[in-house]
Amino acid sequence: MSHTGLQAIRAAFVDFAGTVADPEQMMQQFRYLPDGLLLTEGGKIISLTPWQETTVLPENCIFNDFRGQLIMPGFIDTHIHYPQTEMIAACGEQLLEWLEQYTFPVESKYGDPEYAAKMAAFFIRQLFSNGTTTALVFASVHPQSVDALFSEAEKYAMRLIAGKVMMDRHAPQSLLETPEQSAEQSRALIERWHGKGRLGYAITPRFAPTSSAELLQQAGALRNQYPDVWMQTHLSENLREVEWVRELFPQQDSYLGVYHHFGLTGKRSVFAHCIHLQDKEWDCLQQTGSAIAFCPTSNLFLGSGLFPLDRARAQHIPVGMGTDVGAGTSFSLLCTLGDAYKVQQLQNNRLNACEAFYHATLGGAHALDLHHQTGNFNAGNDADFIVIDMAATPLQALRQRNSKDIIEQLFVLMTLGDERNIAQTWVNGQCVWQQGTTEALAIP
Ligand code: GUN
Ligand code: ZN
Repeated sequence: MSHTGLQAIRAAFVDFAGTVADPEQMMQQFRYLPDGLLLTEGGKIISLTPWQETTVLPENCIFNDFRGQLIMPGFIDTHIHYPQTEMIAACGEQLLEWLEQYTFPVESKYGDPEYAAKMAAFFIRQLFSNGTTTALVFASVHPQSVDALFSEAEKYAMRLIAGKVMMDRHAPQSLLETPEQSAEQSRALIERWHGKGRLGYAITPRFAPTSSAELLQQAGALRNQYPDVWMQTHLSENLREVEWVRELFPQQDSYLGVYHHFGLTGKRSVFAHCIHLQDKEWDCLQQTGSAIAFCPTSNLFLGSGLFPLDRARAQHIPVGMGTDVGAGTSFSLLCTLGDAYKVQQLQNNRLNACEAFYHATLGGAHALDLHHQTGNFNAGNDADFIVIDMAATPLQALRQRNSKDIIEQLFVLMTLGDERNIAQTWVNGQCVWQQGTTEALAIP
């Protein structure tokens, strides 16, 4: 199982072959090979070519025949909270009450390294079993929670970006820190983990309401000191939250203006939600090259609102998909795309399957500024991919037989699909998870 030599994989393949960020050009970049041959070596893609009668497999390669199944790049989850795994599906509140009632108490448990390690292992398995190979993850405020998560991801040489939550007000005392402590702990984690294998660090101020000006200033200083680390936070998710930010930061003219003031916008900055933005905030996202994580299951579950994907498209802002577990209700990017479609329907906008799968793969890579490393089968990219069973249930099989082309099949997949459709997940050129097993396959 653990083999990083030359491998040949025969199957049907879909991906987006180009690197142009504009989703409107995605139809041209969509690549479908009904019968293709993928070569990988040392965890990287060597080539993807059509299988031909004359194809001869290279010598000394391991051959995997997945005919009848579809392979696509692994999903990229651009917004998720690992300590919230255990409180997914908490009933009855909108954002601010939900945080107080459910989220903060659960996150307090992650100061215990043993507990964090156990939950990190469960979390990574959930990602794999749902076909997610890269994620941008919030840990808790405790540095131990980040150590536990990165240690687990490192076992699989996974591409994972995460950070310690920074917060110094409006949360239970046991979860608060001083701006100096917060920056010092974040800095130590950057030094320990950022750039180690395929791991990356994200500076993670939770959101403006739990941040003093001093804390945001410290976050901005870290960003300056380490320009290639990521920054993740929440923005304009809930109307009461937006109003609260106006009261807390009266000197700034908008919610995004607060983050921008402290130097937290730009490439590699990922803002989750972005539902209730003003025109000037859309312009600021565009001008700074910032990215958005669209989290439809969470936005529906917390009653936050409807993300205007057409506006992001019009302003050419990179959009990745986020499950936002535990406010989101599924680890599955397939379920997330299904809800993304419905959120657009409620606004009389369209989201076709081609664009949807773009956002879950190469579009997510763009949002993370990783499109030269992952998100499609271009030569040199990560060999991170999923083997999909398009007909995992009798109903899916029936409906897929009635589909006229691959685009309709993908639409059915995102509407009816979930983790049952993920037959295998491969990370760094190795199978790390397989349908029917409860454990992740161990990689030495
Ligand atoms: N805003 C601040 N913290 C959170 C969180 O944990 N989840 C969500 N959905 N929104 C937030
Ligand atoms: Zn979130």
